Parts: sequence; C-alpha cells; structure tokens
Amino acid sequence: MLASTGKQRLGEMTDGLIEIRAEATGFVAEIGGVDLVGELSEADFEQIRAAIIRHKVLVFRDQRLDDNSHYAFAQRFGPLEGHVNRSTRLDALPKLQVFGNLDADGKTTGVHPEKGTLVWHTDKSYIATPSLFTILRSPFVARTGGDTLFADMARAYEALEPAASARLEGLRAVHDWKRSREKSDERPATADEIAAAPPVDHPLIRTHPETDARTIYIGNHASHILDWEIAAGEALLAQLEAHATQENFIYRHRWRENDVLMWDNRCTMHCVTAYDAAAERRVVHRAVVQGDRPY
Ligand code: OGA
Ligand code: MN
Repeated sequence: MLASTGKQRLGEMTDGLIEIRAEATGFVAEIGGVDLVGELSEADFEQIRAAIIRHKVLVFRDQRLDDNSHYAFAQRFGPLEGHVNRSTRLDALPKLQVFGNLDADGKTTGVHPEKGTLVWHTDKSYIATPSLFTILRSPFVARTGGDTLFADMARAYEALEPAASARLEGLRAVHDWKRSREKSDERPATADEIAAAPPVDHPLIRTHPETDARTIYIGNHASHILDWEIAAGEALLAQLEAHATQENFIYRHRWRENDVLMWDNRCTMHCVTAYDAAAERRVVHRAVVQGDRPY
C-alpha cells in the first residue's frame, strides 16, 4: 500500500476489481485487486490500458508471474519485440529477455550486465519504431540500491520556458545504439548488431499519439542533433537531461519481491541506480511491446 500523504485514490477508475492509487501529480499509479496470472477480463485489461496511458508508470504488487504468464500478459498490449543483444534472450521464449548478476550456479558475478541501463534512457529509441511499453519483473531484488528511477518527460516539457521550448521545435535527435554503448562503457557492438541497428533520427519533442501530450524524447541513445555540430548537440541533450531529471519529475521505484513494473516509453525515461553487484542479487525479466514511429 502506498502511504496516503501526497497520493490520491482514483475512485472513478475503480469498478470493485481494480483499485488504483496514484501520485497526486498524475505520474505513477499502483494497481491492486488484480491477479495478472489468472484470466484477466477484457474490462480489467481495458482499465489497465487506460491507466498506463494516464499515469505513464504502473506498479502491480504481490504478483506471481512466471515467464509464461508474464509473456501472456504482455502480448495482450500488442506484438512483442526481441532484443538486438541476443545473449539476453530466453531460449524457450525468445521475446522475453533476462538480465542479472547471477551465474549458472546462482552466485553473484560482481557485474551488472547491462551498463546502459544505469544511465537515463528510453527503450530502443535507436530504432525507427521504438518500444511502446516495457513490463518488468524482478525475481531477485537487491536489498539496497538497484532502484528503478523514472522521469516524467511530459511534465519536464511543460516546465520549459516558452522561449526554450520554441527553440526546440522542429529539431531532430540522432539516436545511435553503437554510440550509446560506447558512452555507457558497454561491450562494443558487433558488426551484426550494428548492421541490425543503424542510427535513426526522431523529433526531439515528440507528440504522444494517444494523449497528444508533447514530450522531450532524449536519453543515452540520443547522440547529437541532426544537422548541428556534434558538440553543440551533445551540450543541448545534456542540458535537457539535467532539466528533465530534477527531483520533482522523478519517481523512484524501490523493488519488493513479486512487483511488476510497467512503463510507457513514449513519455518517460528510466535508469537503474547502482548496487553492489558482488553482494546483492538482482535479476530482471522483461517483455517489451513494439511501438510506432515517433512524430
Ligand atoms: C529495462 C531497464 C531497468 C531495471 O529493462 O529496459 O532499463 O531496473 N531496466 O532493470
Ligand atoms: Mn531500459
């Protein structure tokens, strides 16, 4: 249960089955009274669909999903995507990905395997049709650290001075997976991976296709601004990221066992906070719903 301070109960969205508590800001809601493992009725599903659009990040507590039920829930939102990094795919269900710091014997490796998740990003912004929703569960939760942070990119946009947002109109950012791996000090992309994920450009300010909200579309995969000098584009992106990740735009998810966390990549950025990868066990399983071309 969320503490009552600063939270509001959204009675109009409850029908006795699903209870939704949300931050008063409208960013992040906790959904209760629903079992994602069982048969989810069409009405419950539609409420969840409406809630993710409205709140951008959803938290489901006390869920007992396994990979099959995780997959089944996720694919109701649309076709799922694989990951460019084939090593993270699950053999039995290749559309689910797993990453964590455990070896085959369940011992900690001392390394967080996806360094790119430690920096602010939005999923797969380096492809022409970036990820829509990501649905994560964490069978092993770190006791300290390993939180997932979210930034509300619609509120960050609204908070820009009018003169500042006017200057951003019409700009396009180049998103480049190879470059983002260099920036986050990841294993360099292989030739195959680079061929599968060449650079793309997207509007710097995109419009959410379901709410018409304008959002700042940046993150670590964004490399520079199209047709600008590289350094000037990097500086603008860094400035926008600093703006968008101020405390008042952020939700910090402290994981509990059996949480399911879901977010809309079109209007949020996220990252994982550092944890001791030798002392803590942290594993996530993820399913990602394919998105459309940003505009
Ligand atoms: C992701 C991701 C965050 C986390 O799955 O896309 O960035 O908390 N994960 O592991
Ligand atoms: Mn991510």
